Amino acid sequence: MEVIACGPPLGAELRGIDASTDVSQQMPDVLDAFTRHHLLFIRGQQMTDQHIYEFASRFGHIESHKNRDATGNVFSVVHGITNLDAEGKPSRKPAVYENYFWHSDKAHEAVPSLLTMLCAVEVPPEGGDTEFADLTRAYAALDAGTKAKIDGLRVEHSWGYMRETITGRPPTEEERLKSPPVIHPLIRVHPDTGEKSLYIGMYCSRILDMPLDEGQALLKTLTDHATQPQFIHTHKWRQGDLVFWDNRCLIHRAIQNFDLGAHRRVLRRVVVKGKPEWIGRSPSS
Ligand SMILES: [Fe+2]
Repeated sequence: MEVIACGPPLGAELRGIDASTDVSQQMPDVLDAFTRHHLLFIRGQQMTDQHIYEFASRFGHIESHKNRDATGNVFSVVHGITNLDAEGKPSRKPAVYENYFWHSDKAHEAVPSLLTMLCAVEVPPEGGDTEFADLTRAYAALDAGTKAKIDGLRVEHSWGYMRETITGRPPTEEERLKSPPVIHPLIRVHPDTGEKSLYIGMYCSRILDMPLDEGQALLKTLTDHATQPQFIHTHKWRQGDLVFWDNRCLIHRAIQNFDLGAHRRVLRRVVVKGKPEWIGRSPSS
């Protein structure tokens, strides 16, 4: 297996590996590349949902989901991310729309996810890219004054806040009770690299112990900083691409650089759970 770095800032292509087969022998090198590059992709894969599930399981336990597809069904563990409506036609306003905004998957959970994996089934003739921002490099590039200012800050992450501000579909009371806000440190320490990174994105509703406006302005400033071109890797999808990344130090978003109403974009997705002990680590521990 070859590891071909895309960076800086991040990302690498794996060649000479078929993720639908027994990759036990190659996993140590895959895990090493994952720690170093944060995002890996393999072209030309032919993956059933079972293959995707089995390959993702090599990184940890698989997450279940609360979100619903265009037909109203709760996502299965391996599920579709598409721009299709309930009739299967391309839609300019798909049921799941929030993936077009910067986020780390499941940051609104008490234990957010470790890794997300996507496999491209159908892609538009052009565009439909996904962008990834490196929050470790973004943190390192902050000036000393800003690092001192944000040291020790805690942030509320709220699924309900995201629904209100991004999708325009405020959650029902039942949904609110099922997904209460959680608190995470603004700076997280990566358990494998020991490096600090920002932990921000669309679920951030406020900074604790700070006036609401001031906290939201600071979060916007940090997001604008972290999503500058020098911190971004853009994945240009081809059919058969298998892409997986580290949610602990990256944020990502899909890009609307294609006509959502005209072309199909169909990806299969699975998410690997994080571990509770990673969340509690503060920069000083
Ligand atoms: Fe996502």
